[in-house]
Amino acid sequence: MKTISLGTSTLSVPSVAVGCMRIKSLSSADAEAFVKGAMDAGANFFDHADVYGDGVCEEIFARAVGMNQGIREKIILQSKCGIVRGRMFDFSREHILASVDGSLKRLKTDYLDVLLLHRPDALVEPEEVAAAFDALHAGGKVRHFGVSNQNPMQIKLLKKSVRQPIVANQLQLSAGFGNMIAKGLHVNMLDEAAVDRDGYILDFCRLHDITIQTWSPFQYGYFEGVFLDNPKFPELNAKLGELAAKYGVTPSGVAVAWLLRHPANFQVVTGTTKTARLLECVRGSDIRLTKEEWYAVYLAAGNTLP
Ligand SMILES: NC(=O)c1ccc[n+]([C@@H]2O[C@H](COP(=O)([O-])OP(=O)(O)OC[C@H]3O[C@@H](n4cnc5c(N)ncnc54)[C@H](OP(=O)(O)O)[C@@H]3O)[C@@H](O)[C@H]2O)c1
Repeated sequence: MKTISLGTSTLSVPSVAVGCMRIKSLSSADAEAFVKGAMDAGANFFDHADVYGDGVCEEIFARAVGMNQGIREKIILQSKCGIVRGRMFDFSREHILASVDGSLKRLKTDYLDVLLLHRPDALVEPEEVAAAFDALHAGGKVRHFGVSNQNPMQIKLLKKSVRQPIVANQLQLSAGFGNMIAKGLHVNMLDEAAVDRDGYILDFCRLHDITIQTWSPFQYGYFEGVFLDNPKFPELNAKLGELAAKYGVTPSGVAVAWLLRHPANFQVVTGTTKTARLLECVRGSDIRLTKEEWYAVYLAAGNTLP
């Protein structure tokens, strides 16, 4: 599988990351088989968060992978903090430090490769975040830092105090959710696609070498469901099917290839809990769509060109 450098770091990561948000639904045996299948396919980057299953997903993962020193060196672990489910967001030093300690304990490890701030905190104090990151870095508990769902000004505000590079920004992006791409094509127009809701985050991340990790590669809307085989998206599915036949992969593989064809060098964060489906994504990461095909998928998803 293709690998990329995460942001400005020297950390080399597979272009398909395994999201662990949904693994709570797996039995111990299925979780073990899923994690093993992923690693056998070279998908050794696992995306977690303290809130996934209220911590249970991290615990299930550690058991499934049979965490020990030898295994730890073969995998790349990312987790997130900052969401206090249903109540608030918290980027205070105290909360960040406590959250990381909780994740380390549940994951049965003494370090995270990457820590992301999960969703913006309206009461963020960059100095508090900086103090937490400094302590985590100095203590060897976190090697790289990033954000998720943050716009350019929020990242700049953090950088006022944070010394470590922001290597990743995890954002929703898929063939069925291409908002950040559409506005770059509809510049200075009066239609809905031109509305800037995120401060041109795509261009900002490219400019600053921040890897965009695309979450929910098969969902449309905000957790409304998958667009694959969904009768609401007949043209998109027809186009994905046509390209799947051409390249000998599945439509989900083409949806992954569509994301990875973008020169921003995204890392796709999948969410399937099925090994077979994960392998379809991995296979899709090895094909390179033409420019014409990339645009054809974009248009088939209901997007327009000026
Ligand atoms: N930073 C954030 O705010 C944020 C938010 C959401 C998610 N995430 C991360 O992104 C990851 C992916 O999110 P997601 O789970 O919404 O992504 P996704 O890969 O778009 O969706 C996966 C879901 O779609 C189902 N599915 C149905 N048909 C499928 C097919 N043909 N191929 C693959 N999956 C199919 C899967 O079911 P099966 O399991 O049965 O295959 C699973 O429930 C999460 O695990 C998490 O790590 C981050």
